[in-house]
Amino acid sequence: MPTNDTTSGTRRSAALLGIALALLIVAAVVTTLAARSRWWLPPLASAQGRSIDQLFIATFGIISVAFVLVHGLLALFVWLYRDRGQRASYWHENRALELTYTIIPAIVMTGLTLSAAGLWSRIHSAPPPQALVVEVRGEQFGWKARYPGPDGKFGRIDPRHYSARENPWALDPADPAAQDDLVLDISTTGELHLVVDRPVEVRIRAKDVLHSFFIPAFRVKQDAVPGMVTSIWFTPTQTGPYEIACAELCGPLHYIMRGKVVVQTQEEYDAWLAQTRS
Ligand code: CUA
Repeated sequence: MPTNDTTSGTRRSAALLGIALALLIVAAVVTTLAARSRWWLPPLASAQGRSIDQLFIATFGIISVAFVLVHGLLALFVWLYRDRGQRASYWHENRALELTYTIIPAIVMTGLTLSAAGLWSRIHSAPPPQALVVEVRGEQFGWKARYPGPDGKFGRIDPRHYSARENPWALDPADPAAQDDLVLDISTTGELHLVVDRPVEVRIRAKDVLHSFFIPAFRVKQDAVPGMVTSIWFTPTQTGPYEIACAELCGPLHYIMRGKVVVQTQEEYDAWLAQTRS
């Protein structure tokens, strides 16, 4: 039979081991983040992304504090009130404590919800009138894009005219506005080109199943739904190439469903468009 002294000695060692393990995990996380020498979000390249990042960081900060506080207290109480052979005590309620842990989270959650609702309505507001308008279509497993011709109008679509090679966008040849539409495969041979500091409205279609148009650098993510046109607008703020991903599990090759987007100055964009149309 172990004596009382050796039992409490074993418990103390177990607690110390627990604390050491916790410190080890914290050290591993901090070292990994420091070694990567950056936040895990990709560098921001759109105007709208700033408020999204701020809300994300605020939310993450608040839940981190709450997490450490709650689990720290839990560990502390487990340690402080461990079994020493005493009788357990019981009391029914503690009004001050209950009000505190109801009101503070309620205020924080209301604040976060209101800022999220405001941000959501700004992101989904009507695009400015000078916005560039392009269409993007997801399909198993790649992205296509459509630019209107010099007439500035997208031609009519009629699925009866669909042909995988000759008419992948199913443009109606009877519609004059469809004659000059530019259709590009932005997963293989082509790229989606946008203009820096100019708002762009992307109208999103899906050919077959649900996809999700995702540009991590712009903090843009919008579902592509068969049979309807969804849309999202944003303003790229940095030139350069960026990745389009599909963020909706859409089949066995979902993971290769990527596209390319290039942000250019207005002059570069105009030159590219003229060259691509000719
Ligand atoms: Cu398309 Cu995943």
